[in-house]
Amino acid sequence: MTRIGIVAELGHETRVAATPVTVRQLQDLGYDVVVEKGAGARSTFTDEAYVAVGAKIVGADEAWGSEVVLRINPPSEDEIDRLAEGSTLIGMLAPALRPELVEALAARPITALALDVVPRISRAQSMDVLSSMANIAGYRAIIEAAHEFGRFFTGQVTAAGKVPPAKVLVAGAGVAGLAAIGAASSLGAIVRATDPRPEVADQVKSIGGEYLKVEVDEVMKSSDGYAKATSEAYNQRAAEIYSEQARDVDIIITTALIPGRPAPKLITAEDVESMKPGSVIIDMAAGQGGNVEGSAAGERVVTDNGVVILGYTDLPGRLPAQASQLYGTNLLNLLKLLTPEKNGQLTIDFDDVVQRSVTVVREGAKTWPPPPVQVSAAPIKAETTHTADTSNGKAGSKKAISRAAKAGLITAGIAALFGLSAIAPAPLPQHFTVLVLAVVVGFYVIGKVHHALHTPLMSVTNAISGIIVVGALLQVTSDNIIMQIGAAVAILLASINIFGGFAVTRRMLAMFSRGDKARA
Ligand code: NAI
Repeated sequence: MTRIGIVAELGHETRVAATPVTVRQLQDLGYDVVVEKGAGARSTFTDEAYVAVGAKIVGADEAWGSEVVLRINPPSEDEIDRLAEGSTLIGMLAPALRPELVEALAARPITALALDVVPRISRAQSMDVLSSMANIAGYRAIIEAAHEFGRFFTGQVTAAGKVPPAKVLVAGAGVAGLAAIGAASSLGAIVRATDPRPEVADQVKSIGGEYLKVEVDEVMKSSDGYAKATSEAYNQRAAEIYSEQARDVDIIITTALIPGRPAPKLITAEDVESMKPGSVIIDMAAGQGGNVEGSAAGERVVTDNGVVILGYTDLPGRLPAQASQLYGTNLLNLLKLLTPEKNGQLTIDFDDVVQRSVTVVREGAKTWPPPPVQVSAAPIKAETTHTADTSNGKAGSKKAISRAAKAGLITAGIAALFGLSAIAPAPLPQHFTVLVLAVVVGFYVIGKVHHALHTPLMSVTNAISGIIVVGALLQVTSDNIIMQIGAAVAILLASINIFGGFAVTRRMLAMFSRGDKARA
């Protein structure tokens, strides 16, 4: 049976690569799990808790000598030497930023998988540690800000006077930014957000924020799920917005990042100076150079005008139990993919884009960088506008053809309708016209309904199905057997629609009321 070793982390790291819950799930995949003594202590997972789920507590050498080693942070040189021949190391390896680490790993006859380079495609989301850690970090950033801020987040009317709600600005509405917007608005603050990708506007709105659009003639598109650099015009207009906002808001959270580049500077020293004393800035990108002038990685800085700037780079580690659980689940999901037979045998399939992307070293051979993975995260609307603008002739002729075809079809349909009305006995033409009109109108109305409104749409179709059931019930007692069968089929189909609709609506409502239940 293949043995998985959960090894302890170095330095100030508080997280651990597997929790008792994920250890049990790893065992279900057919693996034998050993845990280095004290590995989970700083995330509140005791050795006894691991033993209770059937793991063995071992010394560091034995854990590092396992066939599969699970880790959070990249290994040190000594740790790489400890890996057994033919073993597989899985962790966050930052291969793009640490070429020397990739070389050191490739110098050993081992396989190394980097969880932090999972491609941003929907199928791989369950393994994306950057997203799960950024989500925790965004939430924690608000908690840190609330801790530093000397006032309420929510507005209140009390006997002692009226308290206005805090105003929060979030720069960059990616994973961390959205988590921060959600946490701040759930605490009752007024939240505003900026991002060069206009498609985030709906997401910002849906979690209680207001999207501040930077109006310039440019649409940011991304082919790999990450942002691209912004233009000079955009930066200029954005800078004006940040200066206006800095004078108004109490808290600024910055998360702006373009992978592979130093973080863009968004908040200038003058902006910080214009903020009210007691205001708080959390520069989440401090580790990549910072979005805020005056922030320092890992530090708490207080400016002369009394603004606190936090540049903490260990925000997920400040919620260690939660972060370990999500990281452990991401790892488990990768191992599920690598263990299709659930027989404790790890296999890597290079035809699978996710498995190929995460493999940095395979049996001693360097396989980094992987071929690029194209994912379209660009807004569909922007794409259409772009095509129409640049390839005028082509797009235009395509449209003309489809329009002509449509007109022909409509004319043929009307002619057929007239023909049928001329020969059919009354009252068939009248009913038939109503039916055709209902089909056409229904098709266009339902086809144009936004996806978000499909649930209310379902209640409308339920009402229609109800009318069908009533009509069919009146007909089911008819003497004509064909009428009886037709009515029975109508009752059956309409009932499926009604009950199915209720079941789906109930499930969707349950999703929204989960939070309320937890609070109750
Ligand atoms: P992400 O890639 O999902 O989001 C970054 C966002 O910044 C994107 O939406 C992008 O469009 C936006 N952006 C790019 N240029 C911008 C500009 N000039 N103005 C405004 N927005 C801009 O990244 P994610 O995962 O949300 O991470 C955000 C930051 O947080 C990164 O710097 C990351 O390293 C950092 N982070 C920090 C942690 C900590 O402990 N401090 C922990 C986890 C992440």
